[in-house]
Amino acid sequence: MPDMETIVSLCKRRGFVFQGSEIYGGIGGFWDYGPLGVELKNNIKRAWWKAMVQDRGDIVGVDAAVIMNPNVWRASGHVDTFSDPLVECKNCHHRFRADQIKGEACPNCGNKGTLTEPRQFNMLFKTHVGPVEEDAAITYLRPETAQGIFVNFDNVQQSMRRKIPFGIAQIGRSFRNEIVTGNFIFRDREFEQMEMEFFCKPGTEDEWHARWRDERLAWWKTTLNISDAHIRVKVIRREGTTIIGPDPEDVQAEKPPHYSKGNYDIEYKFPMGWSEIEGIASRTDYDLTAHQKLSGKSLEYFDDETKEKYIPYVVEPAMGVDRAVLVALFESYQEEKVRDEKRVVLKLPKQLAPIKVAVLPLARNRPEIVAKAQEIAATLRPHMMTVYDDSASIGRLYRRQDEIGTLYCVTVDHQSVLADDEKYDGKVTIRDRDSMEQVRVPIVQVKDWLVGKLAE
Ligand code: GAP
Repeated sequence: MPDMETIVSLCKRRGFVFQGSEIYGGIGGFWDYGPLGVELKNNIKRAWWKAMVQDRGDIVGVDAAVIMNPNVWRASGHVDTFSDPLVECKNCHHRFRADQIKGEACPNCGNKGTLTEPRQFNMLFKTHVGPVEEDAAITYLRPETAQGIFVNFDNVQQSMRRKIPFGIAQIGRSFRNEIVTGNFIFRDREFEQMEMEFFCKPGTEDEWHARWRDERLAWWKTTLNISDAHIRVKVIRREGTTIIGPDPEDVQAEKPPHYSKGNYDIEYKFPMGWSEIEGIASRTDYDLTAHQKLSGKSLEYFDDETKEKYIPYVVEPAMGVDRAVLVALFESYQEEKVRDEKRVVLKLPKQLAPIKVAVLPLARNRPEIVAKAQEIAATLRPHMMTVYDDSASIGRLYRRQDEIGTLYCVTVDHQSVLADDEKYDGKVTIRDRDSMEQVRVPIVQVKDWLVGKLAE
């Protein structure tokens, strides 16, 4: 597996991820996705939405506002309890999360006895709604997308005539004023989440919790092609923490979040160690009960068949898109030796690759070859993400496309277009990213050939 620096450097060099506001020196915990990063991210989001909403009959989507009535965050417990313990070094003034410090020394300057006692630091970003900066107008940027689903539970259930069990899914930005950001896009202050709240009958939540654990683990493995040695499940209960999967001894005990009776956290083996990529929480009726109490609106569900009334229980798979981007990059990055040269290749799964095909002219000083290559690229664009590139020699162009995970390169040469060339065949060379095998395909069949390959 590559180290973090290798991935950060590839991301900047090739246009996946840039430091936010870079020309002003950046701003900690905020990142900008470049042309390839946004494609990769969109492909991950599409794969999640397809698996969670489109392919199932029991989940529907919403897209709620980022800024909500501040009472939402009072009811949810975030105003009172969404905090991390913060310590500061009186010598160098660096700040740390108390739970991440081992021993008495400051991790930055090494001084002993200069760390303050921990104090609770609330991670909600505050903002004002309206023109007057007074307390009454204070609200928050959402720290999780989940609450936009809970407050719409009744709207969705009624308007879509849903019967329990059913789920509501959402993709959107969340904001947390993290004390310490870091490890590139792993821990950010602005990030994207994909969350689904699955509403079920009280008493069935443990069964659904186990089912969602298995479904989500399978999704990660198949969608991002993750090897068994790099992914595991951390079981977090009030009584203790255990591991299902590799390195069972390598575990830090944790308590479930304030809203959860227990969590399955899916973890990936990053260079900095096992770290959470998705949390599957058993949220009970915590949120709906709290919103019912503070809003005064009934959020009970009436079961037509059994004539029972109850507040549903909730199982929530919640993942971070930015962390999935990072996993996709780590898991697909490979260095190979090809004819004594290093080949860097991102072996991203087909559906995630930002660019599906690159069309390359072998000789950029031959107008007929260039024109044909541009024409082929134009024919392919409506069907798949296509780039045209004539800015270097073919060897360098291949290397560039391998490094960004492009699935196929179509090369137009003299034989393809020059009717007076004795080897003229009206075909182009298509090169496969992973095997590097090359085949000659008639120009008129290129589109169907590629569409067929992408659908395999
Ligand atoms: N609604 C439940 C919830 O928000 P969480 O475990 O705090 O649970 C869910 O967050 C997922 O969101 C995490 O597994 C992680 O992938 C992502 N996430 C959380 N905080 C993040 C941060 N500061 N930067 C990037 N991703 C983050």
